[in-house]
Amino acid sequence: MAKRKRKRNVLNIPPSDPPVRPGMIGLSRQVPASIPKPPYAETGDPGPSISSLVRTPAELDAMRRAGAIAAEVLIHAGKFVEPGITTDKIDEIVHNETIRRGAYPSPLNYRGFRKSVCTSVNEVICHGIPDSRPLADGDIINIDVTVFYDGVHGDNSCTFLVGDVDEHSRKLVAETYVSMMEGIKTVRPGSKVHDIGRAIERHARKHNLGVVREFIGHGVGTEFHSDLQIPHYYDPRAKTVLEEGMTFTVEPMLTLGDPSLYLWEDEWTALTQDGRRSAQFEHTLVVTDSGFELLTVASDGTTAAELYAPVPEAAG
Ligand code: MF3
Ligand code: CO
Ligand code: CO
Repeated sequence: MAKRKRKRNVLNIPPSDPPVRPGMIGLSRQVPASIPKPPYAETGDPGPSISSLVRTPAELDAMRRAGAIAAEVLIHAGKFVEPGITTDKIDEIVHNETIRRGAYPSPLNYRGFRKSVCTSVNEVICHGIPDSRPLADGDIINIDVTVFYDGVHGDNSCTFLVGDVDEHSRKLVAETYVSMMEGIKTVRPGSKVHDIGRAIERHARKHNLGVVREFIGHGVGTEFHSDLQIPHYYDPRAKTVLEEGMTFTVEPMLTLGDPSLYLWEDEWTALTQDGRRSAQFEHTLVVTDSGFELLTVASDGTTAAELYAPVPEAAG
């Protein structure tokens, strides 16, 4: 008999209420001429990926600097997350903090994206465009900060709790962070890309959470998105063997309900079809001689997730 996949028990959690609706999107923000820009900043077109999967030592040093800035900007943004702030105001905060540090906010004009950061609230899975919607008490919001500095990108995100958040959503956010770290902990020279997704999927399943399949981690370095693909579920075809010096992101999106998605007409905002909530965390990392090194870490060693993600409840 053919092996059938065990179907997940979808918890009986109601859709997010009220649903997130598109707000008004303000003008793109300006970057001073003195700040070095990635090639797509003018045209919107990153072109084909041509970069190597492995970084030179000089590129790696640059990625430590870009990663630290990305982490510090994300931590800074987290201080402003509270009921009443609009996602456009978060865009302004991220934009200004990024350029204050001499970096370029990578999302700006990437494939025509109009804002400097992605803000994804509740049932929005990823790529939410900052707009006039104020955060409400009980929301969850993923802020995805990428910066371009010294010729390379650092890409990281964290899901923040807004005020008093229900227990299911707190659990979703906490376990999404744990799943990312479980995936990252498999990384070492000689391991395979699919080990990452297998660990993430296993953790999600244990907690009855869905795993989004349409968006995956990616090679990152001199290019924002390069050829290496990192699924967050077990894909036997993802057989690439990891080598020292490879740099990529791990950025699982986990859902309370079914992970199937649809896009708004803006062609960016991805939402769950069932309207139930989704959470995401992201780090940029490098494969070292014996394991991995997180690159999106503040210069004092902290990360946004360590500061802001809820801690999972004791086993049970
Ligand atoms: N930072 C996102 C990622 O993790 C990509 C955003 S692309 C944008 O890959 F254009 F929406 F900014
Ligand atoms: Co990102
Ligand atoms: Co990414």
